[in-house]
Amino acid sequence: SRLPTSKQFAQKDGFRFFMEKEIYEQSDVVSDCMIGRLKDKEINFDEIDSSILEGIKEIKICACGTSFHAAITSSYLFERLSKIKCNVEVASEFRYKDPLLTKDTLFVVISQSGETADTLEALKMAKKAGLKSLVICNVNNSSMTRLADYTILTRAGIEKGVASTKAFSTQTVVLWMLSLYFAKIKGSIDEQTLQKELKALREVPKTLIVESKLHEKCRRLSKRYLHGHGFFFIGRDVFYPLALEGALKLKEISYLHAEGYPAGEMKHGPIALADPELFTIALMPENMLYDKIKSNVEELSARDSTICTISPLDFELSDDFIKTQKLEHYMLEFFEMLVVLQLLSMEISIRLGNDVDMPRNLAKSVTVE
Ligand code: G6P
Repeated sequence: SRLPTSKQFAQKDGFRFFMEKEIYEQSDVVSDCMIGRLKDKEINFDEIDSSILEGIKEIKICACGTSFHAAITSSYLFERLSKIKCNVEVASEFRYKDPLLTKDTLFVVISQSGETADTLEALKMAKKAGLKSLVICNVNNSSMTRLADYTILTRAGIEKGVASTKAFSTQTVVLWMLSLYFAKIKGSIDEQTLQKELKALREVPKTLIVESKLHEKCRRLSKRYLHGHGFFFIGRDVFYPLALEGALKLKEISYLHAEGYPAGEMKHGPIALADPELFTIALMPENMLYDKIKSNVEELSARDSTICTISPLDFELSDDFIKTQKLEHYMLEFFEMLVVLQLLSMEISIRLGNDVDMPRNLAKSVTVE
């Protein structure tokens, strides 16, 4: 494995913050996470086999925080690629709603630490109801991996920054691979599409390499976004949970008010807030509903919101523009934009003089309710 030793992980290795180091590590840890799993022509997980889907009609996922955003992202992939019904819930809501649990459901929990109290409790409830359970986790021998029927480890290495970065990228890659593995078992994907997806997966580590030009652009842009009365991060499809994640990063370390929103939903209320002090960060991938998001952004621009677009395509209405690479698959655009959002929130936080790694009021692992 090319992962650094735990001693190297304990140091910042010349980076200003652990978060910065962890953003830069993403390319390597994601490669590591694919070893033995992403094969030439198929996906394989040593931890599970095709019997995991026996008797299963749907997938239910519970998680908290950033892991919850990985869960929402995967729900698009499980339905689109595996053709399995999938729904996602925040663990703290799931616990007290008297959920209906049926044995044809594969219960999945996602957790960096494997210790988050609400997620752990959700898993216990599912086990008690006799459901088959799977945990996607970064810490082996944690409470969740000890409890779940199946474990898939994300191999991100120790994550120190309270704001999660590399845990999220590895979770998302595991979930994407898993959706293809399930698709193959169920026969719900044709060979050509599968090979196209595998080809894109192989490109993820390259896409996650932080280009110094891109980092510098985020650093320069950060100074314009220190004030204002709010941020809307908007996107569609998987770029909606990515928008949620971008907004969460900004809240966590910059203490600025930010919301993630599905772009098409802005007209049902939030657009009333639009004015020049409202910053819209628009995720505009070329390969996913480009025309749809474009018209959503045009509406916001017409209401005078300040628009920052993240896109490979020039967009004349943007006040600020972060140009991403042209990439062939929307999930590759997803990962490149993820890095942009992480860097942008980190640079804003640094300018504000905050402690990026130890934001106020937050804990890395929330083991009490
Ligand atoms: C805390 C952390 C978040 C994390 C969440 C879930 O709130 O500050 O960064 O996403 O817990 O943690 P988990 O370990 O279950 O992924």
